[in-house]
Amino acid sequence: MPAINLTPDIFWIGVNDRTTDLFEGIWPISKEGVSYNAYLVRDKKTALVDLAKSIKSDSFFDQIDQVCKVTDIDYVVINHMEPDHTGLINILRKLSPNCTILTTPKAKKMLADYYQVTENIQEVADGEEISLGKKTLQFFHVPFVHWPETMVTYEKSTQVLFSCDAFGGYGAFHGTIFDDECRELEFYKNEALRYFVNIIAKFTTPVLKAIDKLKDLPIKIIAPSHGLVFRKDPGLIVDLYRKWAEYAGQPGEKAVTLVYGSMYGNTETMMNAIAQGIANEGLPVHIFDAARTHVSYILPSLWTNAGVMLGAPTYEAKLFPPITQVLDMAVTKMIRNKTAAMFGSFGWSGGALGEIRRIVEPAKWNLDMTMEFQGGATAEDLKKGVAFGSEFARKIKKGDA
Ligand code: FEO
Repeated sequence: MPAINLTPDIFWIGVNDRTTDLFEGIWPISKEGVSYNAYLVRDKKTALVDLAKSIKSDSFFDQIDQVCKVTDIDYVVINHMEPDHTGLINILRKLSPNCTILTTPKAKKMLADYYQVTENIQEVADGEEISLGKKTLQFFHVPFVHWPETMVTYEKSTQVLFSCDAFGGYGAFHGTIFDDECRELEFYKNEALRYFVNIIAKFTTPVLKAIDKLKDLPIKIIAPSHGLVFRKDPGLIVDLYRKWAEYAGQPGEKAVTLVYGSMYGNTETMMNAIAQGIANEGLPVHIFDAARTHVSYILPSLWTNAGVMLGAPTYEAKLFPPITQVLDMAVTKMIRNKTAAMFGSFGWSGGALGEIRRIVEPAKWNLDMTMEFQGGATAEDLKKGVAFGSEFARKIKKGDA
């Protein structure tokens, strides 16, 4: 993609990544893609805000050439050290050795640790301003959005907030970088939620603190380092991030995430009966086969819904491994205070349900409804399954914790 104007003197440059299969080596993006957005701010002095992952570097530096010589860059702002935003730093330093890196004190040490970069680094304090001429960059430290060294950068005259990971999302660009030109806003909202829960969810308190810290800034454009640039409605993505972060302290929506695994279809047969019981009560139920769905896609539903129904067979006296993986990640991502129930088939002795209890104990899930059956479910078992689903749905509707 060529460089794109956000304002007459501020340009998007970056990498529209459609080839990486796993973001952070974990999260699938092969269908959705992702962008690493950087921004060139031109004035008497020129600043490059953030860089990109170390792929497609020719294209990245060609984009800079469309705007200015790389040796014209006076400052490179490192808002965040994760290599999806800094991977090109050593190439930039070779091409433009005299540019000064502006970053937080914590990031200065990380630059040495990750890239052995130790020179031409200027630490910026929280709230500090640096003039580029008519434009002024102001820096706000926002620790743990997403790493401890993270900051955001605000350009005062144009009221553009370069927010780095904050307000970002998965999803490569489909021909436009702007919210008002995008015809697939729902796709980007869904991918922003998946990104939020996969990457940021553990840090909801810092996210809410950062939103509060920035609330009095007049903001015309939110320019994150992943995903759409919001210039028509910058408040939209801020409100979504606030809402998603607030789920951490609330039960969530009155809906059920049903995650199950099944070896030979016995637990799946019961799953359908239980889902019927939930639906009979008029509650939405979002169903995931844990063995066939990457946890990345299950986490957003777990994050947002109040109810969790877990179905798993006993596997070699333990929990069916795909369910173990989902629950371990849910606990890692601090998905807490859910109202849950569990069911499953066993062959000769149980074991799965006890292990579910053990895994989710640190996340303080309320888990007092269980139903186990031996081998295949009988017609009588399935009737009980429908009733079990309905009883759980009523509990969620009432808001019982
Ligand atoms: Fe997009 Fe935390 O890096």
